[in-house]
This record gives sequence, structure tokens and C-alpha cells, in this order.
Amino acid sequence: MGSGNVKIIQYLVDTRGLWPGAAKTKDLESEASRALALLTEDEKAAVLRYYFVADAKMSLTSHLLKHRVVSVYANVPWPETKLTRDAKTKPVYVDPATGKQPVFFNVSHQAGLVSLVAAAGYDGQVDVGTDIVCTSERRTRDHRVVDTEGWGKFVDMHADVFGRSEAGYLKGDLLSSQSQPGLPQLARGEEIVDFKLRAFYTLWCLREAYVKMTGEALLAPWLEDLEFRNFRAPQPGEGFVQTDGDAYVEEVIREHEVWFKGKKIDDANICLRSLGPDFMTCSAVRTPEKKEDALGWELGPYEFLTMDKILSDAEARMST
Ligand SMILES: CC(C)(COP(=O)(O)OP(=O)(O)OC[C@H]1O[C@@H](n2cnc3c(N)ncnc32)[C@H](O)[C@@H]1OP(=O)(O)O)[C@@H](O)C(=O)NCCC(=O)NCCS
Repeated sequence: MGSGNVKIIQYLVDTRGLWPGAAKTKDLESEASRALALLTEDEKAAVLRYYFVADAKMSLTSHLLKHRVVSVYANVPWPETKLTRDAKTKPVYVDPATGKQPVFFNVSHQAGLVSLVAAAGYDGQVDVGTDIVCTSERRTRDHRVVDTEGWGKFVDMHADVFGRSEAGYLKGDLLSSQSQPGLPQLARGEEIVDFKLRAFYTLWCLREAYVKMTGEALLAPWLEDLEFRNFRAPQPGEGFVQTDGDAYVEEVIREHEVWFKGKKIDDANICLRSLGPDFMTCSAVRTPEKKEDALGWELGPYEFLTMDKILSDAEARMST
């Protein structure tokens, strides 16, 4: 095991303005032919099966990012970046020569944005997870449910994927906690609901990143034993623009109280970031054989990649 030359990679791609000529998923066959040509036949077919073109664009981008990180960081020609799934169904790349994973990665997509977190160059197992959420994607529907059913019911609808204490915290202690900056003074009605929804999606983002890090996803039998306590939402940022380079970030939160089966744990490095007014990202990494390694890694800002760069880099790696 060694932590010496470890590289943490964090990518973000905003797909919302890509392939504007594609009104329907089928249009991607011509509009995104250059990108689709970089996928396997199965991946291409899976992308083109999405009903909504926005989902197809995110899936296409997700595939490209996974192949890219393997090609670049395992130094494999693009056509040999064969992606498979591990025993828990998490997408992985296994080097056929060694049977090992030279780079560990995970992707997430929501509301047009796609994130990838990866770790390369570590001699040992690395578990990585990422999640991206958009607090406003379902705002109208969320507000309608809260207005008609009440906040408690809204939380309870999702209680089966939360930890034991989390639903109670969201329903009761959230507003009385002193550690929740961001609620305007004398806030009322809609502002209070937006504040609560932002806390709800923060918890969602933290939990998804952690659960995806473990690879167990929805099958995890211990979902209710995992609890984030006294968490808080990162402050909303201003807008962000898709350029090559670092994403604009408003607030970064690196300390979280994580409990497992009633005990406080510190097995993972978990970093939560706001991205513009509505998005937030969470990266989670751990090195199960020596937890101090991952706990010491710097989880900096995500790097925005443009589609042009992804495609030209990929094409240059066809026979590397
Ligand atoms: C399978 C699951 C991880 C997918 O999540 P999702 O909500 O669709 O959203 P995301 O966009 O964040 O993640 C999708 C990516 O997860 C990855 N993924 C699939 N199975 C995975 C697994 N077992 N472990 C980790 N990542 C996985 C895939 O790469 C997928 O993207 P791709 O199909 O483009 O390759 C999810 O359904 C799940 O099980 N979540 C955890 C359960 C939970 O507790 N959720 C509530 C938290 S409050």
C-alpha cells in the first residue's frame, strides 16, 4: 500500500448546451455522432434508449468520462478501456493483465450536470463515490407536496433511505439548530420551505456519495444504520459558467458527523461543495486497508471539462 503518487481527479461537465440540434434522443445519432463513435455498441444502444434527450446526453457524457479517466490514468488506448461492473454492480475497470483496478472512479448525473471522481496511483483499494444534486429541479412539485401534505409527510416519503435519526432531525431539530446559517432573519413561508429543502438535498447528496462509495447502493442492508448528524447545507453560490478549469464554488464543507450503528466514525474523506445557486456536489473517498491515507487527500474543486476537449483528447488516445 502506498499513498505517494496518488492523483485525485474530479471532473464536471455541463451537458445542457451540448448538441443543441438534438430535439429528440434519436437526433443524437447525427448531432453527437463524433461522441457516440467513441462508445461501444452496447453503450451506444443504451444511450439511445433514453426517452428524454437530456438523460441521453448525460448518459453519453458519463460513458465518455469513465473511458477518459481509464485511458489517461491507466494509460490504456481508448478502445481498450473496457468497463465492467464489480460484484456489487459498481462500474469499474479491471486491468486484464493484473486483475487489479489501476484507477477507481464513480460518476453522478442530475439536471444536466455530470460529475466524476477518481483516484489513480494508489497501491491498494480505494472506494470512491460522487453525487450531484440540484435543489430546484423539482422545486414546484416539492413545494406543492409540502404545502398540501406538510413537511413531515414530505420527509417521511423518503424515510426508508434515511438513517434512523435523520428524518427526525429534518422534521424537528433542523430549524432550532444553531449551526444552520443561511436562513434569512424573519424568514417565512416559501423561504423556510426552500431552506428545509436545501437541507434535505444536502443530506441526500451526502448519503448518496457515501453509499455509492461503498458500491452497495440501494442494496445496502445498513442504510438505516448510517447517519449524518448536525450536517448543514453549503451556502448557495452565484452562477457558474462552463469553461475549461475549476468550477466556481461558493462554500466547501469538509467536516461531517458520520455515525454507523450508533458509533461516530471517520473512515471516509467527504467533501461537500455548493455549485451556483442550485447545485451541490459531494465527493467521498476511503482507503479501507489504511484509512489515514484517504483521510489525508486533498479533495479540491472539480475541474470543468468541455466536450471539445473530451473528444479531441479521446481521439488522440485511440492508439496510445
Ligand atoms: C444505483 C444508484 C447508486 C444510482 O444513483 P442515481 O440516483 O441514479 O444517481 P447518480 O446519477 O448519482 O448515479 C448514477 C451512476 O451510479 C453509478 N453506479 C451504478 N451502480 C452503482 C453502485 N452499485 N455503486 C456505486 N455507483 C454505482 C453508475 O456509474 C451510474 O452512472 P452510469 O449509469 O452513467 O454509469 C442509486 O440508485 C442508489 O442505489 N443510491 C443509493 C441509495 C440511497 O440510499 N439513496 C438515498 C440517499 S438519501
